[in-house]
Amino acid sequence: MKCINIASIPGDGIGREVVPQAERVLKAVAEVHGGLDFQFRSFPWSCEYYLEHGVMMPEDGLEQLKPHDAIFLGAVGNQHLVPDHISLWGLLIQIRREFEQSINMRPAKQLAGIQSPLLNPKDFDLVVIRENSEGEYSSIGGRIHQNEDEVAIQNAVFTRKGTERPMRYAFELAAKRRGHVTSATKSNGIVYSMPFWDQVFEEVSQEYPSIKTDSQHIDALAAFFVTKPAAFDVIVASNLFGDILTDIGAAIMGSIGIAPAANINVNGKYPSMFEPVHGSAPDIVGKGLANPIGQIWTAKMMLDHFGEAELGTYLLDAIESVTAKGIVTADLGGSYSTEDVTNAIIEEVKRKS
Ligand code: NAD
Ligand code: IPM
Ligand code: MN
Repeated sequence: MKCINIASIPGDGIGREVVPQAERVLKAVAEVHGGLDFQFRSFPWSCEYYLEHGVMMPEDGLEQLKPHDAIFLGAVGNQHLVPDHISLWGLLIQIRREFEQSINMRPAKQLAGIQSPLLNPKDFDLVVIRENSEGEYSSIGGRIHQNEDEVAIQNAVFTRKGTERPMRYAFELAAKRRGHVTSATKSNGIVYSMPFWDQVFEEVSQEYPSIKTDSQHIDALAAFFVTKPAAFDVIVASNLFGDILTDIGAAIMGSIGIAPAANINVNGKYPSMFEPVHGSAPDIVGKGLANPIGQIWTAKMMLDHFGEAELGTYLLDAIESVTAKGIVTADLGGSYSTEDVTNAIIEEVKRKS
């Protein structure tokens, strides 16, 4: 029996509603498979935990997470309780950085029965590879003068290793897909980091002569995601550009509530972390309205990560059988609850076996 040990961090808001549902789905998938089991250990780290303990996770939190095969996270953030920059940097971003999860893989494609807001989306199927540990999210800078001359300085750090890593990952992925990588740049307006980004992209592309490439300014690329998403295969982007592009990717799929993501540690030293694109959605918390598909599709990415791609496809098929029948939450125009949708997916998982 192959047993996968998972550290669950439901976190805040709807994270606490969708993580337990996705765990139920994973348990059902394991049952169908037979030779596979998931053990979940849940950690209560959240903004409420912060109010009680003054920290988002204990001092040895990373040590506690480390022995697990993967981390399954819902969402972090409750601005009524804790400022976002404290809660996110004390948990989510800290884990991404300390566990060297330098790749954030975020696919976007149309699921059966789900209406894209685009009039003519064609059949898009793209993956954004987002740099996940440096760039615009570097914690270097400061604030000076508490008067009318006040200045805030935010530095963006682009290292060669940190820039090459997502690019190589994007090329390797494209080789298994449709063989095309698009680089998101802004070298017309940003004078140091982006010309460097372009140069590294050009150099890395030389190692993959069979892969087609192009480079688009991020502003134009954001528009192309809306006007012609089917033109893209793999897109590699810096941390902030990738963050913004993937919310657009989620929107054109139909809802941010269905968009999955994987924070991947590529050197094998630490566990990878699986968390959907969406946040804690304070506006719908506690109402049964949270779409569980983002978290469940994220679980599918975790299956892929553990070499269970066939099971992953099986799970995505089950999700699509449910969306095709119109069993969806309110964000997709339906009237079903978080639990209804999950139950329907579990039924499909069992029925298909
Ligand atoms: P959000 O993704 O939480 O919500 C944006 C909109 O999408 C809201 O209207 C929300 O109701 C809707 N939505 C999100 N997920 C949904 C789902 N599963 N089903 C149905 N509707 C869904 O983004 P936000 O409002 O900018 O952020 C809220 C909080 O979450 C903030 O504290 C933010 O910092 C945090 N956040 C955390 C993560 C993370 O932990 N990975 C990601 C994004 C935002
Ligand atoms: C995401 C989120 C986070 C990010 C925030 C909450 C810090 O938007 O995972 O996309 O910007 O990475
Ligand atoms: Mn985001």
